[in-house]
Amino acid sequence: MDSIEAAELALSLPEVDPEKPSPARIYDFWLGGSQNFEADREVGRRAAAAMPTLTAAIRANRAFLGRVARHLAGPLGVDQFLDLGSGVPTVGNVHEVVLDENPEAKVVYVDIDQVAIAHARHLLADVPGAVAILADLRRPEAVLDHPLTRATLDFTRPVAVLMNAVLHFIPDSDHPDRIVAGYTGVLAPGSYLALSHAAPDLRHPGEQDEMLADYQRSTSVPFINREPELIASWLGGLEIQPPGLVTVDKWLPEPDAELAPILRTYGVLARVPNP
Ligand SMILES: C[S@@+](CC[C@H](N)C(=O)[O-])C[C@H]1O[C@@H](n2cnc3c(N)ncnc32)[C@H](O)[C@@H]1O
Repeated sequence: MDSIEAAELALSLPEVDPEKPSPARIYDFWLGGSQNFEADREVGRRAAAAMPTLTAAIRANRAFLGRVARHLAGPLGVDQFLDLGSGVPTVGNVHEVVLDENPEAKVVYVDIDQVAIAHARHLLADVPGAVAILADLRRPEAVLDHPLTRATLDFTRPVAVLMNAVLHFIPDSDHPDRIVAGYTGVLAPGSYLALSHAAPDLRHPGEQDEMLADYQRSTSVPFINREPELIASWLGGLEIQPPGLVTVDKWLPEPDAELAPILRTYGVLARVPNP
């Protein structure tokens, strides 16, 4: 979709306020996408100026998503995906990666952002087996019981649940550990959970604090950096796969990839064990 079509699509969504920056569209801006408004770009530019390592971290996070999806659909043979907080479709979408490995794969995208889901539905109109639903991942039962989820995924067989760069928007008061368990608890043995999550920047805490204060003020959405030990504590009962919970650049990197030593976004793949 070009940017004129994108603007028309956004105008068809009466609930969308283009003056109110949204995390989904700011992220799309950082990735070089076209599904964003000037208000999103302003916040995105200020954040990148306050924290020069930000754009590299965002791109490394997106690249992790692509590698873990390919690993799941390829060597691990998973053919069903539930992508929670999937974001605005951009280069290297999960359905493109996994359908490339297995043309029979099924994908359900879930996001709380209207523009992200409208754009995804437009893109998926001719893609059998991939659907997008507007839902709040904090309500696992609503996502799992959604008619499109039920029609697309068979939870008696392995499913990969992806929670990439989304749980840091969920405050402790919403119990992210219980939300994770709300999904993993219904998965068949041999299913997987992949997630990534931001951690405090130990080298440039002032830059990160300044960036986050502005981001949260502008979007009215909380953002909580968490240490990997806490994130790991949400994975009880699952088998953490090699190389473990590591910064996303170090998770099964491409052979020639440059590692980003200051990056503190963590990624992990964990398996639901056999009984
Ligand atoms: C930083 S983007 C990540 C996109 C994609 N997962 C990736 O890693 O490239 C986070 C996405 O999570 C969505 N999100 C935030 N809170 C959510 C919630 N409670 N339920 C569903 N989606 C949510 C945002 O709208 C945004 O599109």
